Formats: sequence, structure tokens, C-alpha cells
Amino acid sequence: MKTLIEPFKIKSIEEIPILTVEQRTKLLNEADLNPFTLRSSSITIDMLTDSGTTAMSAKQWAALMDGDESYAGSRSYFKFEDKVRELTGFKHIIPVHQGRAAERILFNVLDVKGKTVPNNTHFDTTRGNIEFNEANAVDIPCPEGVRPDIIADFKGNMDLDSLRNVIKEVGTENIPVVMMTITNNSGGGQPVSMANIRGAAKIAHDNKLPFFLDCCRFAENAYFIKQREEGYADKSVMEITNEMFSYADGCTMSAKKDGLANTGGFIAMNDDMLAEKSKTVLIVTEGFPTYGGLARRDLEALAVGFDEVMKEEYLSYRLGQVKYLGDKLVEAGVPLLLPTGGHGIYLDAKAFAPHIKPENFPGQSISCEIYRISGIRSVEIGSVMFGKKDENGNHIGPAMELVRFAIPRRVYTKSHIDYVAEAIIEVYNNREKLRPMEITWEAPFLRHFTAKFKFVD
Ligand code: F0G
Repeated sequence: MKTLIEPFKIKSIEEIPILTVEQRTKLLNEADLNPFTLRSSSITIDMLTDSGTTAMSAKQWAALMDGDESYAGSRSYFKFEDKVRELTGFKHIIPVHQGRAAERILFNVLDVKGKTVPNNTHFDTTRGNIEFNEANAVDIPCPEGVRPDIIADFKGNMDLDSLRNVIKEVGTENIPVVMMTITNNSGGGQPVSMANIRGAAKIAHDNKLPFFLDCCRFAENAYFIKQREEGYADKSVMEITNEMFSYADGCTMSAKKDGLANTGGFIAMNDDMLAEKSKTVLIVTEGFPTYGGLARRDLEALAVGFDEVMKEEYLSYRLGQVKYLGDKLVEAGVPLLLPTGGHGIYLDAKAFAPHIKPENFPGQSISCEIYRISGIRSVEIGSVMFGKKDENGNHIGPAMELVRFAIPRRVYTKSHIDYVAEAIIEVYNNREKLRPMEITWEAPFLRHFTAKFKFVD
């Protein structure tokens, strides 16, 4: 059988709001043309993020009831720790409430001030945590990774020559850690090959630098390796996962993604000293090391989630659902980042709305119009999120202007996906009506969350 089906049936449902175009137009204007600030009660299909938006399984809900809410030494922690160790092999496993808490701890204990952190592409909170500590976050994606139109198997890879060059330029003493994000979220949810992980780790280790994975979507990355990289087709997802982590000295994880739960994360490492320092920061800012800012029942849900995410039926459905949406858009001629990645589709806003200059935020304009006609929420990943100004006030945009439709795990059915495709295609067919925009207010850090916009034509 070739038909893609959800490998689960639905036990409990949640109604979704369906508003009129007039209602949505009014709400969007009241939200200053920033879908981020809309209430979820006005969203029909929410593709803002795949983070913490997972539908948990009946087994996870049952596990929640079994949570041991002891402050110290909770048995729920040990279940979680065993599972994470089975996946990663790391010696020290420290729970945190979400991924950015792991990042905050890492960049605090590594004393990064004034130094440089290379990464294939930093996610915005990773960059935020590095810059907040007065360090420099450098993105070194492979060249095809910033070309939406090039089809390649591992567009999430790091450019290893650039890594060597950065190390040579700034000196090993000025690099506290080499990071690798799997999958490469800001680069389109694109996978990183085992060869690239191995290569980056070797360069780091040859220079006596620690190598850490930002591993939010490790299972999706492992399944891409199984499908695409020579020599891995017959390996299990667990074997591939173990090998990926074997090259790293530690990792930061937002378990709101491949933990298949609504909250949680961890920082893990082999180094005893670093772990001690991390636990001290954890106790001051998150909680005791056997719960790290989470309810202990959340650790139970994660322990089950880590089992479920490794199932091949799940991963083939997951990546298949993203591809299904991508294929429908390709068929209609919509420009998007190809091949489709692991957790969503990314429209190529430059090609979608070429009449809008990057400084007038084509991606934001597309995202607003899709919400207005359909109630689907997406997020701009382009000049709004990463744009800067030079000393003369000229716009400096990122390499790509994208609009991400992140697909929550196990939440939407095939007919929901058909509806999303229809909305995107309708806006694409009327693309000349999309209007340029300007920011009227912005916050100093991570401006995309709260910025206000107006149309400028
Ligand atoms: N690293 C990556 C690659 C991420 O995608 C995220 C979150 C984080 C770190 C931070 O984790 O949210 O648990 O603190 N990404 C979400 C997204 C928010 O929508 O892509 P967090």
C-alpha cells in the first residue's frame, strides 16, 4: 500500500475555531500585522511552531498519572535519565524546562564573553543566548544550504572549510564550543549527514575544542540519514542516533520537539567539571537536578515520548506528511525550500513575492495574507527575524527570506494539510496583490515576537 496514513487513531478531540475573513482581517489589524501576537482562539490551523504543540499518546497521558512528584530523587527522573542515556550515551543528564534553558546554562558555564561560537545555523534563541553573554554567534551553513532551489540530500550540513577558517581566524582560545544543530531548523529543517557530524567533530577535537549538538530534532535527522546516506539503510534509528551522539561531547535539547511532549528539555555532557558547574547554575535558576524546572510527571511523559519518536512507522509518517504538503505546492508551482525538511515547509518568499524588497518583509506579508484568507498561522524566518541595520541605517538581510509552516507532531490530519495547501496556492495565484510592509515598533532582542507593522504602499 502506498497511501500515507496517520499511524494512530483519535481518542480525544479538540474543536478548532473557524472565523470569517472579515473577523480575521479585523483581528490581524488589531495585532499590528504580527500573527505571533494573535490569540489562538482566532487560529484555525496553527503552524507557528512544532515546539510543545505535540499531541501526546494515551500511554503518555497514563504515564503522567504515574509521576512521582518528589522534589529530590524522584523515580520519574530516573526513568527519564535512563531513556536519554539510551539515546545519547552521555554521562551527565540534566533536565531543564525547555531548550533555551539548556542554552543559557551552557553559555554561562563556558564563559563565552568576547568569544566566537560556530554552528551550521544558530536557532534564534541559541544566538540570543550567545549574544546576551556578549559573544559572537557565527553561522557557517554549507553553500547549498542557503539556496532554496538546489536539491541536495543534506542541506543542513556545516561548511567544514568555513569551520577550519573560523578556528584559524579567531584562534582556539577564543572558541568555547563548536555547535551543530540537527536538523538545521533555521536552514529549513534540513538534515545533517553523519559524515558532516563526524567531520565537524573531528575538526573540533583536533583543535581540542568541545563539540556539542543542538539536538531538538535528532530522531527526524536520524531517519533522514537512514533514508539518504550510504551505508545507513539497514541500520536501526537507534543505532544511527547512538552514532550521531557518539561524536559529541554533549548536547542541548528542547524536548518539546522530538520528546513528543508539551514541555521539557535537557543538557547532557560527559565532562564532570562542566556538569558540576551546570548543576550549580541549574539549582540557582531552574531547580534541583532531578527535576530541573519541570513537574516530575513531565519527565514521565518524555520517557515514553522518547520511545515513541524512535518508531519507524512514526518517523516515516512524520517526514511523509511534510513531503505530502511540499509535493502539492510544487505541483502548483509555489516556490519553496526543497527538498522538504523534517518538521515543516518553508516558502521561498523572495521568489514568491519578488516585487517586495527584503527590507519590506515579503515573508511577513505572505504570512499575514495566508492567515487572513484561511486562519492558518505561519511564521516569517527572514528579515523580520534576522534583519539588521548597518551604521548608515541600510538594511542587512539574511541569505534567505522564508515563511515557515511548522507541522505540530501527530496533531493534524491529511485533510487539514490539504486545506493548508489550498490556502497557500490561493495566495500564490494572487501574489501580485501582496503588499510591502514596515516595522513601526520593535524590541531590542528577538524582535519578531512582538514587532508591530504597517503596510507602506
Ligand atoms: N534549538 C532549536 C534548533 C530550536 O528549534 C529551538 C526552538 C530551540 C533550540 C529552543 O528550544 O523553544 O524549547 O527553548 N524552536 C522552536 C521553533 C521555538 O519554533 O522552531 P525551546
